[in-house]
Amino acid sequence: MHIDQLDTPSIVIDLDRMERNMAKLSAYCQASGLQLRPHTKTHKIPELAKRQMASGARGITVAKIGEARVMADAGLNDILIAYPIVSEVKARELAALAERARLAVSLDSLEAAQAVSHQAAERGVVIGMFVEVDVGFHRCGLGRPGDAVALAREILSLPGIEFRGLMFYPGHMLAVRSRQLEMLTAVNDSLDRFHEAFRDAAIHVREVSGGSTPTACLSAAFHGLTEIRPGMYLFNDRNMVGAEVAPVDDCALSVLVTVVSTAVAGRAIVDGGSKTFSSDRFLSGDGLGYGMVAGDPGASVEAMSEEHGHLNIQDASHRYRVGDRLQIIPNHVCTTINMHERVYGVRGTEVQAVWEVVGRGKLQ
Ligand SMILES: Cc1ncc(COP(=O)(O)O)c(C=O)c1O
Repeated sequence: MHIDQLDTPSIVIDLDRMERNMAKLSAYCQASGLQLRPHTKTHKIPELAKRQMASGARGITVAKIGEARVMADAGLNDILIAYPIVSEVKARELAALAERARLAVSLDSLEAAQAVSHQAAERGVVIGMFVEVDVGFHRCGLGRPGDAVALAREILSLPGIEFRGLMFYPGHMLAVRSRQLEMLTAVNDSLDRFHEAFRDAAIHVREVSGGSTPTACLSAAFHGLTEIRPGMYLFNDRNMVGAEVAPVDDCALSVLVTVVSTAVAGRAIVDGGSKTFSSDRFLSGDGLGYGMVAGDPGASVEAMSEEHGHLNIQDASHRYRVGDRLQIIPNHVCTTINMHERVYGVRGTEVQAVWEVVGRGKLQ
């Protein structure tokens, strides 16, 4: 099928770019002796997870049990749920899933660890466990080494659980490289303190799982890291361009839209708004706008209604007409994909693949 035959709005993935991004990070991990466990919340598509495995990943990451189930159903069998599983209902679901896949969770409380242990022991399965530590993002994770050691000790005594190590997410490092390097010193100081505390307590930390897309190619500089979990690296987005993590030419995903109105002077309205792109902000830049129009830096995606994207075309490089088809690179790929039932893999102008976003909406 030719790309012109696709209805809009549709997500299109430039397969050449995606494959290049995938190969680049696999090569980096191999050269650095790091394991790669991509976060599949970015695409929620089992077929893409399988491609990442074929390209050298040692397993996958998800955020939700529902996503893990979708991946396990497709045959992916080494899954880290990098999210605290807290309730009894969830722990039961997790234990059931552990009967058919090698599962691990990261968490930062004894309550969560006990709930998982209880259900795992009842089912006779073993679930891997990482203690999440906070190295500066201040979202989840224990900040004090003594608290992390204390939780690990408790975990070591729980049935149905295998203590695997430490997990952290450097989400605050969405910044240009020079700024990241400044932040890295504090992150490494913090990691050093955790490593030292575990050494003093004679608790073996077999794995340290970290990483993100903005820091992916800096991963070897994090002290003691054994594995990284980037997700967006496969596609990149406007936030990655803003942080100078990727050039526009490495953006593999865009939303194909149609201009539906040019009636208001200086404006072109396209058939995708916040229900197509999400409303995620331009976090690595000035916070303004909702995407980049491919091939026309002068046009800005200035506002979003639910189903309308408002383009300011006063400084655009060409005249926009009703019926024109454009490709818009979103601010944030992960939330954009979650809005769509399927995505289209394109090589040149040829649609070569159609993938259902099987994990979309799997929020539990
Ligand atoms: C716990 C965790 N690990 C890994 C990632 C993936 O990082 P990125 O979104 O930078 O690709 C995320 C993203 O939110 C995350 O929350």
